[in-house]
Amino acid sequence: MDKFIIRGGHPLSGDVHISGAKNAVLPIMAATLITPGHFILRNVPDLRDTRTMRKLLEIIGAKVEFSNGVMKIDTTTCNNPVAPYEVVKTMRASFDVLGPLASRFRYAKVSLPGGCAWGPRPVDLHLKAMKALGTEVTLEEGYIVVKGAARGADINFEISSVGATKNALMAAVKAKGKTVIQNAACEPEISALIDFLTALGADITGQDSTRLCITGVQELRNELDFTIIPDRIEAGTFLITNLLLGGEIRLHAVNPGHLSIVLNKLQEAGSELEISGNSILAKSGAGIRPVNITTAPYPGFPTDLQAQWMALMSRATGDSIIIDEIYRDRFTHVAELNRLGAKIKLEQNVAIVEGVSQLAGAPVMSTDIRASASLIIAALAATGVTEVSRIYHIDRGYEKIETKLKNIGADIERVST
Ligand code: UD1
Repeated sequence: MDKFIIRGGHPLSGDVHISGAKNAVLPIMAATLITPGHFILRNVPDLRDTRTMRKLLEIIGAKVEFSNGVMKIDTTTCNNPVAPYEVVKTMRASFDVLGPLASRFRYAKVSLPGGCAWGPRPVDLHLKAMKALGTEVTLEEGYIVVKGAARGADINFEISSVGATKNALMAAVKAKGKTVIQNAACEPEISALIDFLTALGADITGQDSTRLCITGVQELRNELDFTIIPDRIEAGTFLITNLLLGGEIRLHAVNPGHLSIVLNKLQEAGSELEISGNSILAKSGAGIRPVNITTAPYPGFPTDLQAQWMALMSRATGDSIIIDEIYRDRFTHVAELNRLGAKIKLEQNVAIVEGVSQLAGAPVMSTDIRASASLIIAALAATGVTEVSRIYHIDRGYEKIETKLKNIGADIERVST
């Protein structure tokens, strides 16, 4: 298992190229299953998760080639509408194939994902959507089995769910009649999926709103060349790191429009930001001001940057409060950050962060993708040496993280043990 050895205390300087968004490419890869065809996806990040989704598509029968960020997917040969437990247990987003397989084969057998490091993470809303669309949904030996043709329906989600919105959309594009999704998630990654489906010939209105209207079409195109949007979470992580460490970096290939609330919070905390087209120049100011955040569905503060924000606030010049309203148990990083000298108290889903003047290196352990990122950036700000173990989590969601950090002056080494 690999680990990172990090020697903290180096300010950042230089350029960072932001990769394609993990959370956009995974459902789009799944969406290629809806119709037999040949697809080219560009700006695809080389991540453990994109490799896992590739493996899943291949199990289902697709042919996939990937090099230099270009993924070619041939779904004409798919014949096995099954997502096995061995794959789904390693990546929840495998559940994205449920809607596409049900749409194409009128049958899908997808393993239930089970829990994750920060709580139960149910899929009841996904299943509610599939049932509303008229398919038969059963649980058989740990697998969700969906049978029958979907038909247009009204779906009203009681809470905003990215995953359930994706599956409902993908199951509905070829369903006979009209489907209305109320309280749909409107994250940029949903919008990107809608762009992909629309380019394929789907009839969807209400993009970027919480009410989506899908009129089922009989046929979709059988080829498409599509470019994946930039990863707003990777971009946010680098901007937070820069403010924490001090320095000046420029992000390239980023969509600042997807980061509005994060950029506002960074400026409140002391970052100087200059936005020009798809690049952001970030300069750190004098010190880090304490700034509270509460995570919320887009356009609110993303839960996927909560842990990184906590690392930043651990060095602020005062106390701050961080509340996660999306994943109320997503705080496994708290104890690890405290090992590095942070002073964070947790009361249910509320973290009270007392800013400290110094963090100090220690051995710490990654528990999930974003928690790993928070530990790495805290370690980069700490005195001495930090060993971050179980970094396979970070490899799931950040492309070439240590190369990108080294390029801007960080002292970080990957060691295989
Ligand atoms: C996606 C992202 C993840 C991000 C999350 C919230 C991907 C691959 N993952 O996860 O990085 O942190 O959105 O922005 O894109 N819920 C239910 N029942 C369901 C589904 C969800 O109660 O059937 C709840 C969840 O427990 C959570 C909330 O809804 O409290 C939002 O979850 P959801 O938006 O579905 O997250 P994911 O799609 O799993």
